[in-house]
Amino acid sequence: MAKDAHDVARVPSRGRVLKASYGRAMQALVIHRYGGPAVMSLEDRPAPAVGPRDVLIDVRAASLNPIDYKLRQGKSKLALRLPFPIGLGCDVAGVVAAVGAEVTRFAVGDEVFARLEKDRMGGLAEQVAADEAVVAARPRTATFEEAASLPLAGLTALQALREAIDLQPGQRVLIHAGAGGVGSLAIQIAKRMGAHVVTTCSTRNVELVRGLGADEVIDYTQQDVAAHPRDLDAVFDTLGGASELTSLRLVKPGGVVVGVSGLPDAAFARAWLPGWVRPALWLLTGKRRRVAAAAGARFQFLFMRPDGAQLADVAAWVDAGELRPLIHATFPLADVAAAFAELERGRARGKIVVTIGAAPTPGG
Ligand SMILES: NC(=O)c1ccc[n+]([C@@H]2O[C@H](COP(=O)([O-])OP(=O)(O)OC[C@H]3O[C@@H](n4cnc5c(N)ncnc54)[C@H](OP(=O)(O)O)[C@@H]3O)[C@@H](O)[C@H]2O)c1
Repeated sequence: MAKDAHDVARVPSRGRVLKASYGRAMQALVIHRYGGPAVMSLEDRPAPAVGPRDVLIDVRAASLNPIDYKLRQGKSKLALRLPFPIGLGCDVAGVVAAVGAEVTRFAVGDEVFARLEKDRMGGLAEQVAADEAVVAARPRTATFEEAASLPLAGLTALQALREAIDLQPGQRVLIHAGAGGVGSLAIQIAKRMGAHVVTTCSTRNVELVRGLGADEVIDYTQQDVAAHPRDLDAVFDTLGGASELTSLRLVKPGGVVVGVSGLPDAAFARAWLPGWVRPALWLLTGKRRRVAAAAGARFQFLFMRPDGAQLADVAAWVDAGELRPLIHATFPLADVAAAFAELERGRARGKIVVTIGAAPTPGG
């Protein structure tokens, strides 16, 4: 959640919370407790503080990610210990409205996009502040809506393929859920890296993922993924659970499975979880370790990180025509509950975007 600016005098006024220092409030989607969709409310909140290395962004569009409802449900509370009220939303695109004294890379009026810092989310709001290190100039050829669809999913795909897998030209990689927010970008990034891409989706999305560049498509409603030949160098597993065990059995000896959705690994636990959780996690992941050992394969859990420099790479690929944002649906902020309902169906083709503030820019 963005921090309040200066010393904030909170004056309840017909349900509004006014901030004395700026004399204005902004709309933001917040939760005051964990739970289902009913715990979300659009409220007037104080405008965020602008620290010395921060840029203040007038948000034009934000995109939703599964972490937004997992956070709302309290499923991420052991790793992300955030105080209430918690602002939801990780991905934004917008215009710089103010900069802190130490900001060097951005100026007022710049058009930017960002995956917000994990302890300062709240992108489903009219304004948000972020350290300039997580911000990048938005792709020139993308609309604000398209730009907002890219940060979390694009960085996850980039970090999985480039850092965790170290994907090399000619290697064979299976990317699960190729029609989803992460998968649709991962297919394109893996093709850009010169890999042979296998992906999974349901029947209605087969042509979509082929159009994104997939060389082979497994329609999981018709085919058994486990029956695929054991000829893969790597699997990017966005499904988690039992799928990770199947993935470990499909990579060649020496191969790697990178997961983002299932139980985390010991390295994640050391970095993010309280000590008392670690023994239970170790027990719960025992089967995965045994399957990996039997397959001679490595499993790694990836917890993506915000990174403005990598986001600049993503923007360059978009402007070069090498990466195409895929938007499933767009909702105004007033209909954000409907946007969450659509996300939680789990059938999105690409990303769900929420427009905020000023009218969307035509054609970028
Ligand atoms: N650890 C991290 O840092 C990190 C970062 C990003 C995302 N994640 C996690 O990664 C997961 C995916 O995120 P996302 O944004 O891509 O989600 P998403 O866009 O909501 O995923 C929806 C897609 O999943 C596909 N799908 C559902 N079941 C499938 C199955 N059994 N096999 C193949 N495809 C299936 C659907 O395609 P069909 O309709 O064709 O089935 C749909 O296109 C989420 O659990 C998210 O929390 C983790």
